[in-house]
This record gives sequence, structure tokens and C-alpha cells, in this order.
Amino acid sequence: MNIEQVFINNKKWVMSRLLVDENYFQDLSKGQNPDLLYIGCSDSRVTAEDMMGVEPGEVFVHRNIANMVSSLDFSAQSVINYAVNHLKVNHVVVCGHYYCGGVQAAMQAKDLGILNPWLRNIRDVYRLHRKELDSIENEEERYKRLVELNVQEQCVNVIKTADVQYAYKERGLKVHGWVFDVKTGKLIDLKLNFDEILQNISEIYRLLD
Ligand code: CO
Repeated sequence: MNIEQVFINNKKWVMSRLLVDENYFQDLSKGQNPDLLYIGCSDSRVTAEDMMGVEPGEVFVHRNIANMVSSLDFSAQSVINYAVNHLKVNHVVVCGHYYCGGVQAAMQAKDLGILNPWLRNIRDVYRLHRKELDSIENEEERYKRLVELNVQEQCVNVIKTADVQYAYKERGLKVHGWVFDVKTGKLIDLKLNFDEILQNISEIYRLLD
């Protein structure tokens, strides 16, 4: 990549924005008021704003390898805390994607160093849903299903946090599980039943009275 080109592109982008609205950046500098927290994969093909067709200021974004929500990850937990408690978002999205290298790497018998503990969480997802996954003979379909189930389990991890439980109770905050299909460009809503999931796990993970 030609790094200088990036700055040339940036100048063009600034110009194009100012052509439409001369106060565009002035207004952006006044603050943000996003209604949606997006937690997705770092994969370069899955660009949050582009695929949703949203503008700067509309979505608060957190990305990491394989869109994981780990209770020991201060970065992800801080993002959730800030988005839910301070920005007061009403939607939290965990978005995975088919052909995710992180998910694929997690299922290999290979020592990946620092990635081992990170990707181990995906092996845990596999173990939780082993019966279903082992019954899928086609390898590509099995990986795709693991991507979906990983999204589901990360949504559950979002629901486990006190911030989200308070916001659900107080203002009906919603958690969504999505998958982006790199092959078609389509965004798929897994239509996870938030109330049902909450009901199922509430006895174990409930933090509020
Ligand atoms: Co990925």
C-alpha cells in the first residue's frame, strides 16, 4: 500500500464532504450521539459503516479478532460500559462473518502463541454446541454454523454484563446477532430471541434483583 496515497485520498474525502456541507466537520466536532454499538471482526473485508450504509457519528464501533466479547477483556468491556451507560445506545450488535479466519484458526490443531487463549473461547463455543456442529458433514457449512453460534454466544456474553442488564430493565435495550456473508455482501439477522436467551440464562447470570 502506498501510504502517501492515503493522505491524498483523505484530502479528496474532506473536499467531497465540504462540497455537500461546508459545516460538516464543524458539526462533527460538537459530539457524537450514536444509537448503536457494533462489535465486529477486525477482518479487513468487513467494514462496519460501509455495509450498513451509515455515516460517521451514527455507530460506536469495537472490532477484534473473531468479534469476541470476553469478560476479562478490558477493552471490550470498557466499550460496552461507555456505549451503554454514557452514550445510551439502545442497540448492541455482535456481527460475525462467514469465512472468518479467526474461527477457522481456532479449529486447527496448531499452536498459535498469544492467539491460543483468545481463540480458545471459540473452541468453548464448539464444545457447547458440539452435537449440532458434529452432525454437519459439509466442512464449509460446519464452519459457517460455528460463525453463527459464536455470534450467539458472544451476544450471551454481552447480556451477562451488569450495564446491559440495567439498560434492558430501564429502557429496553436490545441485543442483536448478525452475520455478514463475504460471498454475497449481505447482512443476515440471526433473529436471536433476546427475551428467551435472557430467560434461559437469567437464573445463572442475573445480577439484578
Ligand atoms: Co473474522
